[in-house]
Amino acid sequence: MKAWHEQDNFWAKWAPILFPKQRWENTQEEVINIVSLLKIDPGTSILDLCCGPGRHSLELARRGFSLTGVDRTKSYLEKARKQAEIEGLKVEFIQEDMRSFCKPNTFDVVINLFTSFGYFEDIKDDKRVITNLYRSLKNKGIFLIDIMGKEVLARVFCERNWQEVDNNIVLEERKISKNWSWIDNRWIMIKNGKKEEYKISHRIYSAVELTALLNECGFSSISAYGDLTGEPYDHTAKRLILVAHKGKDKT
Ligand SMILES: C[S@@+](CC[C@H](N)C(=O)[O-])C[C@H]1O[C@@H](n2cnc3c(N)ncnc32)[C@H](O)[C@@H]1O
Repeated sequence: MKAWHEQDNFWAKWAPILFPKQRWENTQEEVINIVSLLKIDPGTSILDLCCGPGRHSLELARRGFSLTGVDRTKSYLEKARKQAEIEGLKVEFIQEDMRSFCKPNTFDVVINLFTSFGYFEDIKDDKRVITNLYRSLKNKGIFLIDIMGKEVLARVFCERNWQEVDNNIVLEERKISKNWSWIDNRWIMIKNGKKEEYKISHRIYSAVELTALLNECGFSSISAYGDLTGEPYDHTAKRLILVAHKGKDKT
């Protein structure tokens, strides 16, 4: 049995929950904040690693950035390519695994957004992903990652909750395991009286742990923020955002 994140069925079935209208609508603001936090100009070449259906890739391309989106899920890439074609946007969407994708010295910026990291049981795979994207960056390149930080999770932790998304009832149950290095989620969707259930487990990182991993893979000058506007990573943080630099002469 394949891991949850390697199942096309999982990504297809949960797409309406992961990417509802509201999340697409939030993308513009997220992109404005990313551009401002990284102080980047149109023309900058960006790799959107685990781009999904292309929310950020498309919005960045609309603003004149040069985009490559990489994702494992064919149906998401097809949706993204179709939208790019409708709008006449030049974005390269590549189907590949984040553990193997590497284009040495190619991008000014790599982004990895909305908890698209920590899926693999073997931590060596997480390290492989970071090493590959580090190599894919040009010298002085910047990496931005956005995950649910362990400290934030501990503060807002809720064992069970439910929500209604586009006529689906979604129930979520969470357990912390492996001494706070891992979260085990049970996601249940009820649609037209039919129940679908998936177990979604992944590694959780604190700011210090993820910073250490990025350091180990060669990054320096690593800053942590509590959201994409650059608020501090403190007791009020909403997310864990790390911005890391390749090349030693960054301050
Ligand atoms: C939570 S979604 C985030 C998508 C996108 N970054 C966004 O913010 O809308 C995670 C994405 O990671 C992709 N993914 C999962 N495992 C992957 C892998 N091994 N290699 C590449 N992409 C992967 C999934 O297909 C999915 O699109």
